[in-house]
Amino acid sequence: MRMYDIILKKRNGGELSKEEINFFVEGYTRGEIPDYQVSALMMAIYFRKMTKGETLALTMAMAGSGEQLDLSMIQGVKVDKHSTGGVGDKTSLALAPMVAACGIPVAKMSGRGLGHTGGTIDKLESFLGFTTGLTSDKFIDNVNRIGIAIMGQTADLAPADKKLYALRDVTATVDNMSLIASSIMSKKLAAGADAIVLDVKTGSGAFMKREQDARALAEEMVEIGRNAGRKTVAVISDMDQPLGYAVGNALEVKEAIDTLSGKGPEDFVELCITLGSQMLLVGGKASLEAEAREMLRGVIADGSALRKFAEFVEAQGGDKEAVYRPERLPKAQIVRAISAPRSGYVSRIVCDEVGLCSLILGGGRERKDSAIDLAVGLVLCRKVGDYVKEGEPLAILHANEEKRALEAEERYLSACTITETIPKPKPLIKTIIG
Ligand code: URA
Repeated sequence: MRMYDIILKKRNGGELSKEEINFFVEGYTRGEIPDYQVSALMMAIYFRKMTKGETLALTMAMAGSGEQLDLSMIQGVKVDKHSTGGVGDKTSLALAPMVAACGIPVAKMSGRGLGHTGGTIDKLESFLGFTTGLTSDKFIDNVNRIGIAIMGQTADLAPADKKLYALRDVTATVDNMSLIASSIMSKKLAAGADAIVLDVKTGSGAFMKREQDARALAEEMVEIGRNAGRKTVAVISDMDQPLGYAVGNALEVKEAIDTLSGKGPEDFVELCITLGSQMLLVGGKASLEAEAREMLRGVIADGSALRKFAEFVEAQGGDKEAVYRPERLPKAQIVRAISAPRSGYVSRIVCDEVGLCSLILGGGRERKDSAIDLAVGLVLCRKVGDYVKEGEPLAILHANEEKRALEAEERYLSACTITETIPKPKPLIKTIIG
């Protein structure tokens, strides 16, 4: 087999066989096929697209290119959750203890993430001493003992995807539906769960800006998951404004704690309950959605989800006391309001601009090796549809440098539109696929 023939076949619109896909994925991972040939193939795929069969073969080849987690030592149906990412998306922090308290074992691999805030692991490091550097034995033991463990993504999980994604990033071939779906699903499959619940975001703060694209991606991923023998469901949710009120690492941890204490923002609670109920359904802990929702509300009301979170933080070396006393989390030196320039209804908050404010404040990474400030970010005081009087706070800024605070404030004000008329409300949950 020759790489040249594979490129030519795809360039001419042909369908690649499983053997051809395995050949290029394995060869590229081993460093035997050069970047320029794989770049050409990615561009051919970009224009010619891939069939469902090719997409599944690519996913399986990438999932099998490195270590595949064996979670068989963990009792029960392991359900993983994945979000395509958004602004203020702290869902895993609250959802993991909620479903664990309902009896679903959570054995999760998470990343640090580039972008406006850190990933789940960065956020969890707001707890002094918290570590995700667990051995596989400790990881499995923690899940069996307390029902929840989160570990950092190992370098050897789907290494083919890591190389391909980096190459796509610099060759303008990221935004192809099959390539995105296979990239995400290869990592999920290699992480070993029996069932997967996907949170596919849409809106100005999401990877998929248009709802029809989010739906197409969700459908593609659900089909891959099922063909790979994993129960898979996707929830399409709104990301046209930040989720909840908090954007920033420690600020989001605090909001997750509030949520587990029964004081969470309405939209965030609703998303956690929706995703959580899908997890309980695919995990066989409930047979009806209403029953699942009831169970999740129950573990918040009786305090067991919050206790589970504290147990988990302690088991991974973190300051458990901060779960009950969030004032122990990192705090910024400058905390001040961003005031509304006029009275009216907040009719738009450009979501990715709010993410940029957090990045400007130092809450996210511009490069893989950038340091991250866990204390900084914003807490919104008004969301879309809320009325604000001139001079009242639109948001509270948490910063550690005056220059950055001023820049973020200016940017936040230009991200918000205030009008005299009430905007039409948008549903948070668009649809559930699967
Ligand atoms: N996220 C991924 O993991 N892969 C993609 O291709 C796009 C987003």
